[in-house]
Amino acid sequence: MTATPSAKIYRPTPRNLARLARVLAEGGLVAAPTETVYGLAADALNAKACRAIFRAKGRPANDPLIVHVASVEQADTVAVLNDAARKVAKLFWPGPLTLVLPKRDNVPDIVTSGLPSVAVRLPSHQLFRELIRLSGRPLAAPSANPFGYVSPTTAAHVFDGLGKRINHILDGGSAKIGVESTILDLRDPKHPVLLRPGAVSREALARVLGRKITLHRRPVPAASAAVSPGLLERHYSPRTPLTLVKKLTPALIRKATAREALLFIQKPAVTGPNTFWLAEAPNAFDQAAHNLFDRLRTLDNGTWSHIHAELAPGADALALAVNDRLRRAAAKR
Ligand code: TXA
Ligand code: MG
Repeated sequence: MTATPSAKIYRPTPRNLARLARVLAEGGLVAAPTETVYGLAADALNAKACRAIFRAKGRPANDPLIVHVASVEQADTVAVLNDAARKVAKLFWPGPLTLVLPKRDNVPDIVTSGLPSVAVRLPSHQLFRELIRLSGRPLAAPSANPFGYVSPTTAAHVFDGLGKRINHILDGGSAKIGVESTILDLRDPKHPVLLRPGAVSREALARVLGRKITLHRRPVPAASAAVSPGLLERHYSPRTPLTLVKKLTPALIRKATAREALLFIQKPAVTGPNTFWLAEAPNAFDQAAHNLFDRLRTLDNGTWSHIHAELAPGADALALAVNDRLRRAAAKR
């Protein structure tokens, strides 16, 4: 019998960063913080290392990885950037925006699930960028959670999900944004498509590109990697049954039993032992996004028989991102 690894959590000292960068350069896995969620990183140009990411997460091979870079020049080494990509990169990189572009030959098939395109992102998180720079490689990194479960926004979340499957976790505190990057398909710059909503809004992207951005609506079936498998209908799912309502009304609140949790977007006027919320203030969708995954995990670790959650109102980018994650978390298995 082989011993199961138990992950070590590293403080972000220069010495630890150098050590973890070495682990990455030698083909190992390191979970590390980004400004969106924690990622499980490996050398994006090392097929064997990237295969280990899929194994650790239990992720199907038809769900491609995002390649993280520390500069636009490095992005050029893995993807073919068109003018539209350069334009949005100039404005939104470093930051929570991933671009899907034609890939270069050096990117192994395992990273892109055999697609001729690659997803690339220049994160703003200093520690993650430092790891990319010190390792000297672009880093492939999906969210650092077992496939299908709620994404991690702290080192403790990563440990809870993958602690027995990986060895190294870099602790950079709680991820600032809390939901994954916006994904924009720019393979055809004349027809940009939004594959996943995130902190960078569709409107802002449309303004910069001077074009309408199509919304990719239909979730692809689990068996297909045709467009973006991340659009799998069920994802981010707690084990506790979760249902969504547009608003938690007084009638719904009265009807809930003591074992049913009520998850509000904004703190309600009247609270009880089964009342939870994502933000203190109205319209604080940045707070709601920041707290979403942590709150879902806390509720899931409780003894609730059911979670009733309401959707965020309005069209703010992070409100839409929160609703997108809630809808997928609630999708029937
Ligand atoms: O904020 C983020 O993007 C985080 C942090 C760690 O950077 N990463 C993240 O990775 O959310 P992941 O693997 O959980 O989601 C990446 C999504 C997947 O749903 C995948 O389908 C999509 O990106 N993707 C990757 N390569 C693609 C490609 N070539 N074409 C279309 N979609 C792609
Ligand atoms: Mg994920």
